[in-house]
Amino acid sequence: MLSVKSLVETCSLPSVPSKYVFPFKSHDTTLAEESEVIPTIDFSFLTSGTPEQKSNVVQEISCACREWGFFMVVNHGMPKKLMDDMLQTSQSFFDLTEEEKGEYRGEQLFDPIKYGTSFNASVDKALFWRDHLKVYVHPHFNAPHKPSNFREISQEYCRRAREIAKELFKGISLSLGLEGNYVEKEMEIERGSQLLVVNLYPPCPQPEVAIGLPPHSDHGLLTLLIQNELGGLQVQHSGKWVPISPLPYSILVNTGDQMEVLTNGTYKSVVHRAMVNNRATRISLGTANGPPLGKVVQPAPEFVDGENRPAAYRGIKYKEYLELQYSKELNGKSCLDSIR
Ligand code: SIN
Ligand code: FE2
Repeated sequence: MLSVKSLVETCSLPSVPSKYVFPFKSHDTTLAEESEVIPTIDFSFLTSGTPEQKSNVVQEISCACREWGFFMVVNHGMPKKLMDDMLQTSQSFFDLTEEEKGEYRGEQLFDPIKYGTSFNASVDKALFWRDHLKVYVHPHFNAPHKPSNFREISQEYCRRAREIAKELFKGISLSLGLEGNYVEKEMEIERGSQLLVVNLYPPCPQPEVAIGLPPHSDHGLLTLLIQNELGGLQVQHSGKWVPISPLPYSILVNTGDQMEVLTNGTYKSVVHRAMVNNRATRISLGTANGPPLGKVVQPAPEFVDGENRPAAYRGIKYKEYLELQYSKELNGKSCLDSIR
């Protein structure tokens, strides 16, 4: 299937082809007040703050996870140049010819490197205005061999993103009133999976009728996301859509479905979507951190209490959960709902 990038570059489109018209409902356009903004977490307080700063930031993580499931992390220590280089080499990947990228046009969900368009074009009812590159980068590191600097840059970026995720797992564990290493140990993060997903949203002639990514929740435990200067991400909060304008060089973080299952719903995954624009190409780059693919995730005993609070989800291997999500249309939290 043609990538959106080729579609835009080879045909001068006056309008969006009908298969990309997304069935928006009228309330889909309700945006929250501008004063509604996601919480900001100062990462440096977590790693090198005074005991008081640390305990405050743990409290802030608790509120952010309970009320939003989405927050912006600043002072995280990821070098700005590395973030710029990572976005730049990702753009260069998409700038390769379709023939060069075609080498990675796998059909299998667990292909170590997969280039494609939409989400799963064989089940998506409408196609999404998005091309993507997905790479499994942990426990085994993979990288496309072109552009030539992609391997080196992405390896360093993903290593540092994992370190940040691990610190955030500590903060999250403490914020749940548990030992700092709780999530890391319980979810076997040392051998855990890390998936790099690069999203490319080319300019769209009718941004109001197409969508980059439909409302969905992320499958893993915790996603870290960076983007170029263009907005487009919206998070669902109290029934309204909150447009996210991240500070330059901040990292957006959200809890995913495995976190909701593990904590038996204490920390929920959050529905979000990517809108498109008609000005320029937006690029976003997520790393999804999860347990090992073979790990069965179920509500942990710490969050289950007999009949007062029974397990709300059935246990399922992370790998099977990913297969389940990929077999259906991407639609809000429907995948998580199917294991309730
Ligand atoms: C995603 O939800 O995976 C990507 C969101 C974005 O492009 O901002
Ligand atoms: Fe997402």
